[in-house]
Amino acid sequence: MRRFVAGNWKMNHGPVEAAHFIEALPPLTDLRCVTVIVFPPAISLPAARAALGSSSSISLGVQGVHGEASGAFTGEIAAGMAAEAGATYALVGHSERRTLFHETDEETGGKVAAAQLAGLTPVLCVGERINERKEGRLEEVIVRQLDAVLGSEVVGDRIRAGVAFLLAYEPVWAIGTGKEATPSDASQAHAILRRRVGHWLGSDRARELPILYGGSVTPANARGLLAAEGVDGVLVGGASLDPGSFARIVELARELC
Ligand code: 13P
Repeated sequence: MRRFVAGNWKMNHGPVEAAHFIEALPPLTDLRCVTVIVFPPAISLPAARAALGSSSSISLGVQGVHGEASGAFTGEIAAGMAAEAGATYALVGHSERRTLFHETDEETGGKVAAAQLAGLTPVLCVGERINERKEGRLEEVIVRQLDAVLGSEVVGDRIRAGVAFLLAYEPVWAIGTGKEATPSDASQAHAILRRRVGHWLGSDRARELPILYGGSVTPANARGLLAAEGVDGVLVGGASLDPGSFARIVELARELC
């Protein structure tokens, strides 16, 4: 079974550090069944791309894109520009974007469509806050976030036609807190998402759709999470900043092949 290990560097590692990270990464061997993706800050994409050279063991992604292809949107980055700079994936709907930058469900739909149009594989992040979880609203929240994207005919049609699409379940209460979800918490949420993907895209597509877990993943807990039912990979924040710990998580995924 293919597994994904993705590192979201957030606002860390500028161009110089990004190149150092790639140079310091222990060799990632025998990755036949593991897809490794790094999401540097957009400004570090060209440096990371150059440091990777002809190596195809790691793919690059952009942490966010605008919903339009170009225009008067100061400070924003279009999906096509990220693709030109070396990205092949795009995070959309990360909880930090939703919470700190007030991105709406509707905007995430537009951004997924824009990423697809530029040839990037969108990685849609969904997840509940602690109060929503305590109120028993896990399913309501993550299904709403998913529906805002898959309910779009253009996005759904593209995925049905074979355009790649990934999901990441990232409970907000587990992000940057050191309190990871248990493997069974992750399996439960992934099952809800997979069922709902089936509603929009059919059960075959739902079965094969990769769903990653993110939130306080470390080399110490990654094995259990990667082995959990319905978990196809991990989206790692803090522990992806160090080349040694990121490579260790890749190694754990490889051992599960
Ligand atoms: P941490 O692994 O630092 O909790 O971050 C998770 C995350 O937000 C990945 O996108």
